[in-house]
Amino acid sequence: MRVLDFRSDTVTKPTAAMYDAMMAASLGDDVFGDDPTVNSLERKAAEMFGKQAAIFCPSGTMTNQIAIKVHTSPGDEVICDQLSHIYNYEGGGIAFNSGCSVKLLDGNRGRFTAADVVNAINPDDPHFPFSRLVSIENTCNKGGGAIWDINQIKEVSKISRESGLGIHLDGARLFNALVESGNSKQELGDQFDSISICLSKGLGCPVGSLLLGEEHFIRKARRIRKVFGGGMRQAGIIAAAGIYALDNHIERLKQDHNLAKDLSMLLNATSWVKHIVAPETNIVVIELEQPEKQKSIIEQLARKGVLTVAFGLGKIRFVTHLDINQNDLNLCAERFKEIK
Ligand SMILES: Cc1ncc(COP(=O)(O)O)c(C=O)c1O
Repeated sequence: MRVLDFRSDTVTKPTAAMYDAMMAASLGDDVFGDDPTVNSLERKAAEMFGKQAAIFCPSGTMTNQIAIKVHTSPGDEVICDQLSHIYNYEGGGIAFNSGCSVKLLDGNRGRFTAADVVNAINPDDPHFPFSRLVSIENTCNKGGGAIWDINQIKEVSKISRESGLGIHLDGARLFNALVESGNSKQELGDQFDSISICLSKGLGCPVGSLLLGEEHFIRKARRIRKVFGGGMRQAGIIAAAGIYALDNHIERLKQDHNLAKDLSMLLNATSWVKHIVAPETNIVVIELEQPEKQKSIIEQLARKGVLTVAFGLGKIRFVTHLDINQNDLNLCAERFKEIK
């Protein structure tokens, strides 16, 4: 039976061409700054978004957490949406690594406004934590892959900077947003002091994320990466996959988005789905007719070879990616009929 793994876009295996690029990579010791492939990946990514420098890390959690650590001091506060990955899914890292508190905003599928930020900034009064950093997630995972409007980003960025706050972008799925919106990478890059992008999600790499920023920011990030144990040696072997993906796997994300729309229509035709969060990119979040059957439905789907994850009370997430194709949706159509 063909297993359709919709749990995440992180489950993809390298393509044959990506493996070839990895095998051909020139290697060195990246902790000494000697790996030519890592250096070239870092330069390429930084230039794409008009930043001076970048640092290659093992995960998006690490790039986000390093950025927060560089932006803040213990006792500061980070402003972000209540759905954000940095708050929900990074093991309490904001408190653990940086000793910061969090002010949560109630945005629209993870997207908040400049006015929300203004209201969240604490007064200069010793009772309150010092508001230091605003973090945006684009696309917003828990918001069902929602894309931020560039004008809304500009407004949030402007007010954050005018208020003396840093502004970070968790762009784990930034390329999904960019292929849909057609926004300029440089224009987007200008709005942020730091940007995290993941290579191991829709771009199909086995591992790796990048943190982008100005030279002085990335110099500090390099120290924190060492402290977090994220310095890697002959990392060019995985960086080569990243270069390959940036050259070859961005435009094809559109196919994943089309599959997500088709999948949402199939789900809409079932008796067990009550509501679907309209997919904007490669993530489909459904709400079940009977929320109490969440576990049973995930298990039934898994027995039919359709893997998914629970995504909050009565909700299930499906993610499309490089290893899912149109034929797989035909299989889904058959398998969905047998779910009760
Ligand atoms: C929005 C977002 N940010 C950050 C991450 C963290 O990435 P990683 O799994 O590489 O730590 C994820 C992972 O799913 C994510 O969805």
